[in-house]
This record gives sequence, structure tokens and C-alpha cells, in this order.
Amino acid sequence: MAPSPVVKVLAIETSCDETAAAVIGDDGHSLLSNVVETQIAAHQPYGGVVPEIAGRRHAQAIRPTVERALADAQLTLDDIGGIAVTRGPGLIGSLLVGVNFAKALAWARGLPVIGLHHIEGHMLAPLLDHTDDDVFPAVALIVSGGHTSLFHAERFGNYRRLGRTLDDAAGEAFDKVARLLGLGYPGGPAVQRAAEGGNPAAFRFPRPVPERNRLDFSFSGLKTAVSNMTRELGPEGVEARRADLAASFQAAVVDVLFAKTLAALDETGAKRVILSGGVAANGPLRNRFRAEGQARGFEVLIPPHRFCTDNAAMIGVAGARRLAAGLRDGNELDAESSWPLPERYQEVLSA
Ligand code: KG4
Ligand code: ZN
Repeated sequence: MAPSPVVKVLAIETSCDETAAAVIGDDGHSLLSNVVETQIAAHQPYGGVVPEIAGRRHAQAIRPTVERALADAQLTLDDIGGIAVTRGPGLIGSLLVGVNFAKALAWARGLPVIGLHHIEGHMLAPLLDHTDDDVFPAVALIVSGGHTSLFHAERFGNYRRLGRTLDDAAGEAFDKVARLLGLGYPGGPAVQRAAEGGNPAAFRFPRPVPERNRLDFSFSGLKTAVSNMTRELGPEGVEARRADLAASFQAAVVDVLFAKTLAALDETGAKRVILSGGVAANGPLRNRFRAEGQARGFEVLIPPHRFCTDNAAMIGVAGARRLAAGLRDGNELDAESSWPLPERYQEVLSA
């Protein structure tokens, strides 16, 4: 496909509970605006994301969010040359809002539109402030509320999955343990805060290694171990030991995530790690990766917090490249709630 002139790209992300829009400049990676309208308060009373509420909230928030992204960039739709949108995976009712808004806008304005993979977005977040040569090749650990996977990212568009979770995602484990400890939603930041001052060695929670593939993850046994311990301690015991429980759980997750990443570096020979996704906002996890990278001589790329949790900027960098390469989606573009990340996702760019 023939390359197209590089244009400013409007990016839209609505896969879960954040309505997000961003504008990427016509160099393909500079960020002109980044707006995230979070729904946390709407889901808080339920202790987790309620898909029906999420979809309705996206429908209400999508237009003002896009308008704010354009206003923050001091642009109008006349300045936009293409639209990038998260196609999946995620909550179907949430994805449909973003995808259909993007398609309608593209149709009305005669603009090209392209659907992107949410996990690729997380993986490419470092491209917001690095060149390709500074990012690839790398082992990418993507840890979020819906995903925990390791990839060998050889170059843009070329990602081999090395391992994935067989049950819960790491963020899901944080959210469930937060509930067990009587902490709020979202669980990750609440567990991290509760763990401050706790003893990470107070409880020895399991660090499971799945038998079939040592690079796969499993967090359900860890969650069950915490659940059993909270039952054993009773409400007063949990209250008294909350910091130790949170710190010990967090330490187990960090240990497992780091050990698998180290094994992936060993297997691929890569010298660089990308750590991204919502759980990569976790302080002790970031610190562990940075410290080990320094001690063992591998480079660690971790986006700033706001680009680890869901955002449209990461979708914009992935989309701008494809649009510039002449790739587009037609009217058949549809939301995909389950969609494995394709291994060779960018034939045109890597040809
Ligand atoms: O990437 P993300 O915003 O949405 C998904 O794609 O799932 O990730 C959200 C997940 C939630 O499970 C949340 O609890 C977790 O990221 N998270 C954290 C922290 N901040 C967010 N987990 C641990 N520590 C944190 N500081
Ligand atoms: Zn995400």
C-alpha cells in the first residue's frame, strides 16, 4: 500500500472504563493533547467495572472528550488527517461507542480511520518519547486489569507472545485482593498504599510456575492463598495485619512478574524490557525492574504513570504509523471484545 502524507491523528480509546482522546502531531509521535475522562466514581459503589454503566458513560462522555482533546491541542477537526481507535480487546459495549464514533466522524469528514489493538497500544507507549531504535528489540511485559502477557517485540508490528496468564490478570488479582482486604476500587493503587509500612516477608504467599510453559502466569492460587489467610485471621486480624497482607501479596506479584521477565530475556537474548499497562503504575514493581536492570545490565523502559494506565495517546502512536503507511479500515471495522494480538501485525511496514 502506498504511503500517505503524515497527518495529525485523532485517537480514541474506550475499551474499559476510561473515555480517552488524544491528538498526535504530524511527525507521527509528538503528543499535542491527551484527555482521559475516568469513570472510577461511577463504578466505585459496585467495587468493580459494571459493563452496562461503562457503555452508557462512554456514550455520554465521548463527544465532550474528543472536543476537549481538539481544544487542548488548539485545533479543529479541519486540522485532523486521520482517526485511530481501539478496536479491541475489551468490554464490547464500551468498544462499540469508540469504534462507532470514530467511524461516523471519519465518514462525515471524509477521513481515513484505522482500528488498533489495545495491547499493542500499551506496548508502544514508550514510542511517545523514544525512537524505534531506542525501543526495539525488547521483551515487553504488559500487565493490566484484563491482561498479563510477555512478548518478544522485535520491531514495530512484529510481536511474538512468549507467555500469558492462564487465569487472572495481575491487575485483576490486585483488584480482588483489595476487596478481600476491605480496600476500595480500583484495587491496585489501594493495595500499594496499604502496603506502605507493611512487611513484605510477613506472609509467604505462593509464586506459582505453570508447568507447560515457564513463561505463562497464574495468579488465582495467590488470590486463594490471600483469601484463606483473611478467613483464618478474621475481620479483626485482617484489620490489624492489613499492611503486612498487602505488602506480602504485592511482593509475590512483583517477584513473579520479574522472574518471568528475566527468563524471557534469557530466552530471547534481548537486552531491553518494556513494562507497561495499568499495573506498571505500581511503585514497587517499577523500582524492582529499574534496580534489577541497573544491577544486571539490561535497559528498562517504563512509561510515565499516565501512559501506563488506559489512554488514547498510545493508540495514536500505533495508528499514526499505520495511517502513514497507507493502511485504512473500511466500513467493516468492528469492535472485537476478544482478539489475540496478531504476531505479524504490520506486514506493510516490515516489508
Ligand atoms: O491498563 P489499565 O488501565 O486497564 C486495562 O487495560 O485493564 O489497567 C487497570 C489495572 C487495574 O486492575 C488497576 O487495579 C491496576 O491496573 N493498577 C495498579 C496500580 N494502578 C493501577 N495495580 C497495582 N498498583 C498500582 N499502582
Ligand atoms: Zn489497558
